[in-house]
Amino acid sequence: MIVALLNQKGGVGKTTLALHLAGAWASADAPVLVVDADPQGSALDWAEQRTREGHARRFGVIGLARETLHRELPALAGDHALVLIDGPPRVTGLARSALLAADLVLIPVQPSPLDGWASAEMLRLLGEAQLYRPDLAARFLLNRCATGSNTLRETRSALASSDPPVLKAQVGQRVIFAQAMRSGQLVDELAGAGPGAREIAALASEIAGLIP
Ligand SMILES: Nc1ncnc2c1ncn2[C@@H]1O[C@H](COP(=O)(O)OP(=O)(O)O)[C@@H](O)[C@H]1O
Ligand SMILES: [Mg+2]
Repeated sequence: MIVALLNQKGGVGKTTLALHLAGAWASADAPVLVVDADPQGSALDWAEQRTREGHARRFGVIGLARETLHRELPALAGDHALVLIDGPPRVTGLARSALLAADLVLIPVQPSPLDGWASAEMLRLLGEAQLYRPDLAARFLLNRCATGSNTLRETRSALASSDPPVLKAQVGQRVIFAQAMRSGQLVDELAGAGPGAREIAALASEIAGLIP
């Protein structure tokens, strides 16, 4: 199973969510692999920071920011039950290759009063990929939400009947996610009982329900 986090927009949480979902799903008998398909290599930076700080490995992270990703991935995935692709901003060829590799596409979006969440370019690429791969599933995923805000309510209502549909689970704007990225850790390690960790657990379980 290959899940790709894609949105041509930078800063929407592709890397943060790919790493946290990997952490939620990885276990000794179900190894998970994160493929960093962003030339900027932020997921690799996180993994390097983690090693430097001496924290135990929870899942593998490899760099594969190449347009041949979809052809190379099957061999590299080996016996990983689940692979998460952390997608690039902008670079169309790379995003297209990730779309060809994926079984499920998650499009992280930040609530916004404009319709900035619906990256037109992203939806065009998705539609193009679905012509060849009608089974390719996709969902919007609301990240960096300010609970109770009008903007969040408006974005939810704008996405209520969207195609692709939006996930029920959402992730709040929380300092702990930025801390996790800097420290090479995950929010469940920084505050296991906190709201950030609970949101990730709920998100991981909703998405797991989409996986056959
Ligand atoms: N839910 C969140 N709450 C607070 N900060 C977040 C959240 N999600 C992402 N960030 C921060 O926003 C920045 C961009 O996130 P990142 O995952 O790198 O996005 P992308 O990979 O889409 O460019 C990072 O500094 C990250 O720590
Ligand atoms: Mg990123």
